[in-house]
Amino acid sequence: MTLPMIGKGRERVDGRVKATGAARYAAENNAKGLVHAVVVPATIASGRIKSIDDTAAKKSPGVLAVISYLNAPKLNRPPAQGSGQSGRGGGQQQQSGPPPDSGNYAEPHLLPFADATIHYLGQQIAVVVAETLEQATHAANLLRITYDETAGKTDLLAHRAKAIDKGSQQAPPIHVGDADTAFASAAVKIDQTYRTPYQHHNPMEAHSLVASWEGNRLTLHESSQNIFAVRTTFARAFGIPKENIEVMSPFVGGAFGSKGSTWPHVFAAAMATYVVKRPVKLWLSRKQLFFTNGHRPATEQRVALGASADGKLVSIIHEGVSQGNGVSDYNERFTRPTRTIYACPNIRAANKVVELNVASGTYMRAPGENVGLFAIESAMDELAVALKMDPIALRLANYAESDPVEHKPWSSKSLRQCYERAAERFGWSRRNPEPRSMRDGRLLIGMGMASCTYPAHRAPASARARIDASGHVVVSCGTHEMGMGTATVMQQVAAETLGVPFESVRFEYGDTKLPQAPISAGSLTAATVGTAVHQVANELKRKLVELNGGQELATGDTYAALLHRQYLTKVEAQADAKPDAEESKYASHSFGAQFAEVSVDAELGIVRVRRMVSAFAGGRILNAKTAHSQFYGGIVQGIGCALLEQTRLDPRAGSFTNVNLGEYLVPVNADIPPIDIIMVEEDDPHVNPIGVKGIGEIGIIGVAPAIANAVYNATGKRVRDLPITIDKLL
Ligand code: MOS
Repeated sequence: MTLPMIGKGRERVDGRVKATGAARYAAENNAKGLVHAVVVPATIASGRIKSIDDTAAKKSPGVLAVISYLNAPKLNRPPAQGSGQSGRGGGQQQQSGPPPDSGNYAEPHLLPFADATIHYLGQQIAVVVAETLEQATHAANLLRITYDETAGKTDLLAHRAKAIDKGSQQAPPIHVGDADTAFASAAVKIDQTYRTPYQHHNPMEAHSLVASWEGNRLTLHESSQNIFAVRTTFARAFGIPKENIEVMSPFVGGAFGSKGSTWPHVFAAAMATYVVKRPVKLWLSRKQLFFTNGHRPATEQRVALGASADGKLVSIIHEGVSQGNGVSDYNERFTRPTRTIYACPNIRAANKVVELNVASGTYMRAPGENVGLFAIESAMDELAVALKMDPIALRLANYAESDPVEHKPWSSKSLRQCYERAAERFGWSRRNPEPRSMRDGRLLIGMGMASCTYPAHRAPASARARIDASGHVVVSCGTHEMGMGTATVMQQVAAETLGVPFESVRFEYGDTKLPQAPISAGSLTAATVGTAVHQVANELKRKLVELNGGQELATGDTYAALLHRQYLTKVEAQADAKPDAEESKYASHSFGAQFAEVSVDAELGIVRVRRMVSAFAGGRILNAKTAHSQFYGGIVQGIGCALLEQTRLDPRAGSFTNVNLGEYLVPVNADIPPIDIIMVEEDDPHVNPIGVKGIGEIGIIGVAPAIANAVYNATGKRVRDLPITIDKLL
């Protein structure tokens, strides 16, 4: 293996163009003759459109088209998001990756603009195309739409009894032993209900695209995490060959899962350019982003833990509901971590969906794990209190030495080292477990911790590499860079594998003209694309060594000189990487331990996070700096989850109400304390050829429970519904 265990902390190669504004994002592709499209949302949650009067809109200056179900081009039903989307399938791991060219339409049971039915408030029902954005916006306001409204279901808790099983492929129910009988006779029990709110991703870059039809070809500059699936989706929808479609997404200004699917507005733009035969720009306003691009669904979860008097778990029951709807297949599978996190002879877990007349949910950073482990790790803290046991000791007493459900061996697991090193750095030994016992002046101080885990995935990916006679190497793969550091680490993997300077390699990505890559999600990009790049670099090196008479380069020799000697202008290689059967014999997960210290103002109920210490073991770390940023960003988002983020839904209207960044609160710099991140070295020989497990999501997962547990330690109040706001502490 040519790669170091912890790769050099290099600066991001895309940093400069992003910081200087030179990076061109999707909506900045101002093609000649560009026109603008504005979508029109439904204003009821349930019913049918009775009439659309577009007389005034059509007469309005600059208007080119008004498209609705009355006149929309007839499309083929586009392919849905595969059930194992992004390889985040249930108990299986790497092998569950989809074929990279599966479609990814987010609402497979609602053909865009196909009929008059309204399934949720905000559903896009028309698109207005005009010469300018202002003209399109004005004309959209002139549409007169009437409805036949029916009573919709909008309240998750009011309809929880109607929950259905919708997630068997992604998070199959878990039945190990007999959890109910074991719980009934357990010496110590916790049986509590935890709730998590709706949350919206709110990437800085709004969902946006520029679409153009020319002849029989469609070009999309689309802010996307999955360009090949977008291409497949539109090839099927419009009945044209994939080769006639190019999707480009070289820069993505934040996504967090929300850009993993093709959402209705992409169809609106594609239909608009199809109809007006001019390039169309469509970007959604911040308010619209709260209705038709997915969100983290609200959940209600019951966790029941039974333990022996010495703290051994005898039963885990985890069940509950999340919001879904009838047009999307999304399921917030919060029971996924339940199958991984603790050893227990009796486990029963199932998550159900309540179909409401509310917009479609989707993947949001650590979907499933994030809300699921909030519930489990809060319950574990409650169990530690009941047992009068140290929370780390309780977790160590239930340390899973193999995968607790399928009993596969771990490909590697360093959670014990995570507990030890984070606890030591944090100063856990100074914690007084007695609530309200630690103070700093008038502030109550609390310390809490939580475990976290996220599965390691890998999907098939291809890559190409070319070295020219000047010694420059170009490595290509149609993957995505959303700020994770993909371009930088791939350049590192190629340079280190080939044994050439970092600066002599360039990595090309973000275009369906390049070799095929899967979705960038599920923390799988480094492992997936990294393996393909490693493989193609090895193949290129093999060819070069062969050219050199079967010898490695002599000291002082270069590949450029070798190509000159051989009268060659370039040497090329191609690789198709995919998980092999050996990998699926193991259970592969990243693990971590997260610690928080909070202060709580006893009179005002204000919680401040004072510091956080986290330790993670995620296999080989390709770039210490970009990895640190990934963990850091996850932790910041976790603090938002714990204390700030929630989208309120008014069940009377079925509408989200705080649909702007003034009222939807995310952390600002002043909310973020010193964050300490420990990367535990982990040599995993089984997970994949480069030993990478993935770290994009695990950073967020243990933060909310660690903070909730710290708030309990500070105040003696257990907050079981996120976010932890002042009203819940007074
Ligand atoms: Mo993500 S929620 O895996 O983009």
